Amino acid sequence: MIRVAIDGPAGVGKSSVSKALASYFSFAYLDTGAMYRACAWWCLRQGIDLDAEQVDEQTITQAVGDFFTEDHFDLSVDPDDPKVFADNVDISEEIRSSEVSSHVSAVSGIIPVRHVLIAAQRSFIEREGSPDSYSKGAGVVAEGRDITTVVSPDAEVRVLLTAREEVRQARRAGQSVQGVGAENVAARDKADSKVTSFLSAAEGVSTLDNSDLTFEQTLDALIALVEQAI
Ligand code: C5P
Repeated sequence: MIRVAIDGPAGVGKSSVSKALASYFSFAYLDTGAMYRACAWWCLRQGIDLDAEQVDEQTITQAVGDFFTEDHFDLSVDPDDPKVFADNVDISEEIRSSEVSSHVSAVSGIIPVRHVLIAAQRSFIEREGSPDSYSKGAGVVAEGRDITTVVSPDAEVRVLLTAREEVRQARRAGQSVQGVGAENVAARDKADSKVTSFLSAAEGVSTLDNSDLTFEQTLDALIALVEQAI
């Protein structure tokens, strides 16, 4: 099984290139950011206050635990049609809203919440990367902030995707998803980097700066890294 771990900050283009990479090799695709977003969406829907200076960590952890253990959450790992579901309803678009983007760090910053998600992500990676799963090529591409370091530090391919801040800001602003253009990626990265380390590569992790690369060039560089590992 080939496990490909890709980390990087907001707006670097991780999701699009990770999906294309998984599709190229017929691997499964796991968007761990979508899992954190789904948790924030779920908490907001339960009326939990995520704006407070000091959020209620216990209530949030309990809500996230229920979200997973009571089977409210599901996702599709097909890179050509990745989706996130809550109670069988497709919430893939809603979790990209500016409301969720601006509240997700309040949820992902809670360590016990991370433990729930990390365990779920590890089991997805083990299951989806196996030959009898979706993945015809027996592999999985997982992307996020702590995949190369915490979730799957022994992955066969580990990459930190980076780009200069102004480039990332411009890419986000150019995205057509409702509300996302207004987002300040630097503020979210600052909050996120308190609990995850994605601004510099850990030992053994390749850095790919795509500030001056096209999408195709970034994808080709990743394909080459995976081919070396096969
Ligand atoms: O990648 P994306 O922008 O969708 O991630 C949304 C949020 O989920 C991040 O801003 C971060 O707070 C959280 N996240 C995380 N660890 C990951 C992936 C995402 O904390 N592995």
